[in-house]
Amino acid sequence: MSIRKGLQTLIKNDQMNLRNMIQKFLFITILLACLMPVKSQNLKENPEFDEKIRKFLNSRRWYDMNVPSVDGQLLYNIIIKNNYRSALEIGTSTGHSGIWIAWALSKTGGKLITIDIDEGRHREAVQNFKEAGLSQYIDARLADAHELVKELKGPFDFVFSDADKEWYKNYFIDIDPKLKVGGCFTAHNISERGRGYGGYGGQAQFLTYVRSLPNYETTVNSAGGGVSISYKKADK
Ligand SMILES: C[S@@+](CC[C@H](N)C(=O)[O-])C[C@H]1O[C@@H](n2cnc3c(N)ncnc32)[C@H](O)[C@@H]1O
Repeated sequence: MSIRKGLQTLIKNDQMNLRNMIQKFLFITILLACLMPVKSQNLKENPEFDEKIRKFLNSRRWYDMNVPSVDGQLLYNIIIKNNYRSALEIGTSTGHSGIWIAWALSKTGGKLITIDIDEGRHREAVQNFKEAGLSQYIDARLADAHELVKELKGPFDFVFSDADKEWYKNYFIDIDPKLKVGGCFTAHNISERGRGYGGYGGQAQFLTYVRSLPNYETTVNSAGGGVSISYKKADK
């Protein structure tokens, strides 16, 4: 073999080796990326804080029309999964759902506005938020949500509707323009067949309406008190 041919063979071999190495490198990188735990968001983890909130939640009996824990956990999961940061709750009562929502927001770096018309429950909620260590993530308003919801600027990426059921559809209509695409509107005491609890028609009216909108995708979670979950897919 001439020197020239020998050199050409060497270069060819080197090029093949390089290609093989690049292929191997890419394969290993992709494999590692697939195997690594998914941590796409920068969640603020604080196990001691979590423990404090868990203890507080378990130390109370939540009987003031509050959501069951399974629904609180559901709201928490939706916020964490979607990294939501700007939340609105209509119907604070004494703050059970508000604590679950604000707990999730403490991890995503968000804030909750929560509204109640009843002074006693509002005051108790504010005290509960303080004791849970979540006050800084919550702006609790004592107001008639019929008026305040119209005035709030938003935009919101997460909403939980749990006040007067006959107003559910109106709340939704007022909030829709202020809900970001990709955001989520949830409502409580919704049954899959849309009949609603206690004979009220408000939930059924709301569910029929939101399901008629092509830019929303709605499911109902029936594990607890019934939560409708409507994701906004597009502006219209
Ligand atoms: C079912 S409770 C909310 C429970 C709360 N989400 C929880 O799980 O802890 C409903 C609350 O809505 C409030 N509410 C009813 N009508 C309202 C209105 N027009 N504006 C603001 N709050 C209202 C009531 O005072 C009551 O505290």
